[in-house]
Amino acid sequence: MRLGFLASHNGSNMQAIIDACRSRTIAAEPAVVISNNSDSGALQRAKQEGIPAYYLSSQTHPATEQLEQAILQTLNEHNIDLIILAGYMKKLGPGIINTYQNRVLNIHPSLLPAYGGQGMYGKKVHQAVLTAGEQETGASVHLVDEHYDTGRVLAQCRVKVESADTVETLAARVLEQEHKLYVDTIAAIVKGDITL
Ligand code: GRF
Repeated sequence: MRLGFLASHNGSNMQAIIDACRSRTIAAEPAVVISNNSDSGALQRAKQEGIPAYYLSSQTHPATEQLEQAILQTLNEHNIDLIILAGYMKKLGPGIINTYQNRVLNIHPSLLPAYGGQGMYGKKVHQAVLTAGEQETGASVHLVDEHYDTGRVLAQCRVKVESADTVETLAARVLEQEHKLYVDTIAAIVKGDITL
């Protein structure tokens, strides 16, 4: 199975998955990385790993449909079977969603459907969890459809909220668990233990 990553920032989830492919924990090939941010850690990591990397954004392709076509073409050229969103901050267009139906994964740093949806990303999620006084939070791997965070949840893990937690400490603990959850979920998909 050939994996195509879309990432906007640091790419630590992407790195965890690449490492797992290299150690054969995941029996798949990290085949391409696409980012809409030319300065992203994700693009740097791709170059270090020798994975073909592309910067495709509204700067390189001002028309939305043109950008979507460029992304699709890049995925096709690299024979991608499964798209892995790893901190990708742009909504995917309908062309990509339809072409790769049930073959696009995302990870979200909460127990979906709680704390998901438009505008709920990054630190905002953890701030909302702390403001609500939740005792636990977590992460979810889900299929991507045309809406934000509404696709079928494939796997979740739970993280206890500590009374001394700040947004930063909570985000860091959840992120550590995200790396494990994303790797385990993709490994299970590749093995056929999770059906998409
Ligand atoms: C993660 O918290 C993930 O849940 C969210 O974006 C963040 C990406 O972090 N979708 P990284 O780029 O993988 O380090």
